[in-house]
Amino acid sequence: MNTPVLVIENLTAGYGTTAIVHDVNVTLQEREIAVIVGPNGAGKSTLLKAVFGLNNCFSGDILYRGSSILKTGTANLVPMGISAVPQSGNVFPSLSVTENLEIGTYARAPKNKAHTMARILSLFPDLKDKLKQDAGELSGGQRQMLAIARALMSEPQLLLLDEPTAGLSPAFLEIIFDLILEIRSTGLSILMVEQNARQALRIADTGYVLVNGENAYTGSGTELLANDEVRRSFLGGQARLKSKQSDSDSP
Ligand SMILES: Nc1ncnc2c1ncn2[C@@H]1O[C@H](COP(=O)(O)OP(=O)(O)OP(=O)(O)O)[C@@H](O)[C@H]1O
Ligand SMILES: [Mg+2]
Repeated sequence: MNTPVLVIENLTAGYGTTAIVHDVNVTLQEREIAVIVGPNGAGKSTLLKAVFGLNNCFSGDILYRGSSILKTGTANLVPMGISAVPQSGNVFPSLSVTENLEIGTYARAPKNKAHTMARILSLFPDLKDKLKQDAGELSGGQRQMLAIARALMSEPQLLLLDEPTAGLSPAFLEIIFDLILEIRSTGLSILMVEQNARQALRIADTGYVLVNGENAYTGSGTELLANDEVRRSFLGGQARLKSKQSDSDSP
């Protein structure tokens, strides 16, 4: 098998001297979508921030295309082809849509900025006729699209998304997930944290349930969706009906 785009290997990381994620493993293959789900406070954002060089890693490793990026630093990760959309505060509300997109090119300028912007905007028809508007005037869903579009302006190969559908209506949810699939089809690999776990696992090649900063379940999206314990505890849905025998066995 080819070298994975990203390997998080037995990573323990956190803030200051406090470890939040412990011994975590994640592998993302080329042109795949890996989804991290789990309860609030599980350490999902912390893990994503560790990949983007934003917090302290105490042990383990993070490999991008086979090389450690533990000591690379965020400013150098963007030119290497890694781009991130944080969980919140991911657009500049008092700047126009165009200006927000331009910011996405600062750390790594595309060869032809106008061409890149046109190509990216073709994925985001909602933004196309709002280029001069302030980002603060956009709807929540449009702001989320802008944040993703901005991240794409540096022409990344690996995209890190922290809860891209947070606070969005079900209609927008579907639009964003379709968009993520479309972005993947342009050749990107995507590591995504999602609160809407069921929908996210449907588009995931691999899924990771993180609990108390540790890997609790790992499998393909399909496997995790079919796992009774995962369904019962983390997907907010009904577990598959079990036989009376196994019910009486459960605690
Ligand atoms: N900047 C920080 N400094 C210290 N501790 C932090 C910091 N950010 C988060 N934490 C702590 O790390 C733990 C995990 O937080 P994290 O934001 O990674 O969880 P999460 O799984 O992303 O949760 P959510 O689903 O609410 O986004 C929490 O206990 C949180 O209080
Ligand atoms: Mg989070």
